[in-house]
Amino acid sequence: MKFPIYWLELFIRQSLKLPCLLSYPLAGKGHAYFALLGHNTIRLRNMIQKALVTGGTGFIGSHLVETLLKRGSEVRCLVRNKLDLKWLHGLPVELIEGHCHNINSLREAVKGVDQVFHSAGVTKAIDEKTYFEVNAIGTKNLIQACIETNPNLKKFIYLSSQAAAGPCQSNGRKRESDECLPVSPYGRSKRKGEEFCLELSSQIPMIIIRPSAVYGPRDRDVFAFFKILSKGIKPQFSKREQRISLCYVLDVIEAILLASESKSSEGEIFFISDGQDYRLDRMGDLFTEALNLHAHQIYVPGWIISWVASASELLSRFTKRPPLINRGKVEEMMQENWLCDITKAKTLLGYEPQFPLAVGLKITYEWYLKERWL
Ligand SMILES: NC(=O)c1ccc[n+]([C@@H]2O[C@H](COP(=O)([O-])OP(=O)(O)OC[C@H]3O[C@@H](n4cnc5c(N)ncnc54)[C@H](OP(=O)(O)O)[C@@H]3O)[C@@H](O)[C@H]2O)c1
Repeated sequence: MKFPIYWLELFIRQSLKLPCLLSYPLAGKGHAYFALLGHNTIRLRNMIQKALVTGGTGFIGSHLVETLLKRGSEVRCLVRNKLDLKWLHGLPVELIEGHCHNINSLREAVKGVDQVFHSAGVTKAIDEKTYFEVNAIGTKNLIQACIETNPNLKKFIYLSSQAAAGPCQSNGRKRESDECLPVSPYGRSKRKGEEFCLELSSQIPMIIIRPSAVYGPRDRDVFAFFKILSKGIKPQFSKREQRISLCYVLDVIEAILLASESKSSEGEIFFISDGQDYRLDRMGDLFTEALNLHAHQIYVPGWIISWVASASELLSRFTKRPPLINRGKVEEMMQENWLCDITKAKTLLGYEPQFPLAVGLKITYEWYLKERWL
């Protein structure tokens, strides 16, 4: 009987205006690893804020919801289907059924909240139109609902992506002030979402977070790489020197929360990563070293990946399900430099990444094993 304890604590905590301390880490399957992590990255606060999270059923959104609950916020989630709550199942959140194109549901969702965390988005879609409809128009709809229904909103956080900025054109790390040159439909749609945010930022206090590739428990994209490694194969997708930034999911959450509290960064964009530079061609070695696995290196030439992406896209037209890899993703994978500079987030938000790659990978791998994904 774990959930009743949680609900009881929630009631006492909210009556006394206290943050969550005890029962949350016990709250059930899939969440126990939080107990091991401790609370060192999450500062408990005793001020109750009411937050709306979109995309709460997803990878990053679900971690955000849990962290907000832990720090004592009241959380409302916009969900597409109340009968399919995924990672939100059993959590004490208020649910509003709707989606990014149902304006009435958005108005209801934003009513009376202090903060909006917009994490809903599509990272894989069957066509280009869907990326724009959800990531760009959906974002605009949500902002407009805030302006109309909740003009006193304290903060709107838009979870954008490094893909919106595109790869770094020089040998260094991309900065927020650099020109945006996205190379995929996904990246272009996220950039359009950012442009809507910036256009309307004079009416709503707004901050844009641009994470690099994010990994951690519940992720299904980097998981594909773990899965191949667990079969004893270490794929090498490139022989060129390609560099990327990565970030563990709880570091992204910390950055989002710092942004939500920032008083002076409205209208600003922040890159977020763990601050390290990684070589894509050495990714297999980095993973096997961190996880103490043995695997044989196999070079997969670019033309095979392109072929698989084209075939997957074709197949997805029949299955009506987005492919795991598509030509846009391949275009992203072919770029030489996906490094981003997090100096601005460190300076203005006080962001300090807490999870080195080896630690984040270990936690993630153990979670996949525990949940029998591997
Ligand atoms: N994962 C990364 O590496 C990464 C990196 C940088 C930025 N981001 C950004 O972070 C955000 C979250 O990514 P994620 O990896 O957590 O994705 P995810 O696991 O696929 O979750 C996406 C979420 O968006 C919801 N959603 C999709 N279409 C919607 C719509 N039309 N209306 C309302 N909700 C909708 C999904 O709801 P259902 O459960 O109903 O499908 C789900 O909750 C995205 O905006 C993404 O662009 C992700």
